Amino acid sequence: MWAFCWAPIVAISVLHYATPIHHAWVHDVLRRLYYLPIIAGAFLAELRGALAASVVVSFCYIPHAFLHMGAMAHADPAGSWEKALELGLYNIVGAVTGYLVRAERRRAAELATALEEQRRLQRQLVRAGRLGALGELVAGVSHEIKTPLHALRGTAEIVDKLIPADCPERRMWEIHVSELRRLGDIAERFRSFASPQVDLAGALDLNDVARRLSDLVGAQARRQGVEVELTVAPAPVALCGDRDQLAQVGLNIAVNALRAMAAVSDRKGTLAIRVVPEATLEDAPMCALRIENDGPPIPIDRIEHIFDPFVGDDPQGTGLGLAISARIAELHHGFIEASNAGLGVTFTLYLPRRDAPEPA
Ligand SMILES: Nc1ncnc2c1ncn2[C@@H]1O[C@H](COP(=O)(O)OP(=O)(O)OP(=O)(O)O)[C@@H](O)[C@H]1O
Ligand SMILES: [Mg+2]
Repeated sequence: MWAFCWAPIVAISVLHYATPIHHAWVHDVLRRLYYLPIIAGAFLAELRGALAASVVVSFCYIPHAFLHMGAMAHADPAGSWEKALELGLYNIVGAVTGYLVRAERRRAAELATALEEQRRLQRQLVRAGRLGALGELVAGVSHEIKTPLHALRGTAEIVDKLIPADCPERRMWEIHVSELRRLGDIAERFRSFASPQVDLAGALDLNDVARRLSDLVGAQARRQGVEVELTVAPAPVALCGDRDQLAQVGLNIAVNALRAMAAVSDRKGTLAIRVVPEATLEDAPMCALRIENDGPPIPIDRIEHIFDPFVGDDPQGTGLGLAISARIAELHHGFIEASNAGLGVTFTLYLPRRDAPEPA
């Protein structure tokens, strides 16, 4: 304000008072120059700034305009009506520009929020579309895998009894059985991606989900030397949903976080699990489960795609953990967001609060 408002007003006033009366055109110019700091006030502090500037300008100008100081030697030579009109205009211009700047800024902020919401909605739709189409394909594949797998497991149980413990081929047989088990796990993961079984009717407290997640992840975190910080809400956070599936979502996120932290060898790391009782997503009242880790950030070109199936970089993983989680969140009318914020990487699972109206 000083550089663009008060200092110019002082400078114009000094010149005004110092200019002799016969330089009428200089007074004309100086009188109009007062509009510049008034407009600057509007841009710097909106209506408040513009009105403050116009009032200060009026007080600076009134003595010079009407008091005929120094036996008229320094008075503004313009006519009384003209000077009175100018005084009125200072304040009108101040009020109008201040109001317009304020309205424009509010509109710009609203547009930015609307744009951000539209982008989020678009991402949500694209994600849902991709997952839905792929879900059908994966359901078929997992069904085709599971049938022969079932037969293989049955025969393996019979053959297992026929191979003695001291037989040299026993070791190879154990590898065979463990790979069969792994294949079974993968098929099960495919199935739960294609058709997650979610019971939405259960009434639950998000604090309980967070506690359960903390218990589930605790042992692995301790082994890794990672500190788990659990922050629950002071009061129960009521929502409808499937406790096991929501804990599974949290676990998928937390296991990824532990793996990302383990990749950085020089430090142990922190995993924070926080319950946010009141959050908003596209103006809808939500609650949220926030899982933060202080591992390395997710590259910006990758973060957009980590909820897509099969984008994982873990050779042991299926690349389905976050895709399944996104589907479970969607079935709960919720949403998962990932960002390089908080401790380092933050995943936020938004879920509708029980007191919120049902989405259409
Ligand atoms: N906290 C995190 N920090 C860094 N990268 C992450 C984090 N969480 C997820 N990622 C990235 O997202 C990818 C996708 O994760 P997702 O859980 O879907 O698959 P996955 O872990 O590779 O396999 P799966 O979960 O099926 O075992 C991960 O491979 C990893 O590259
Ligand atoms: Mg995973």
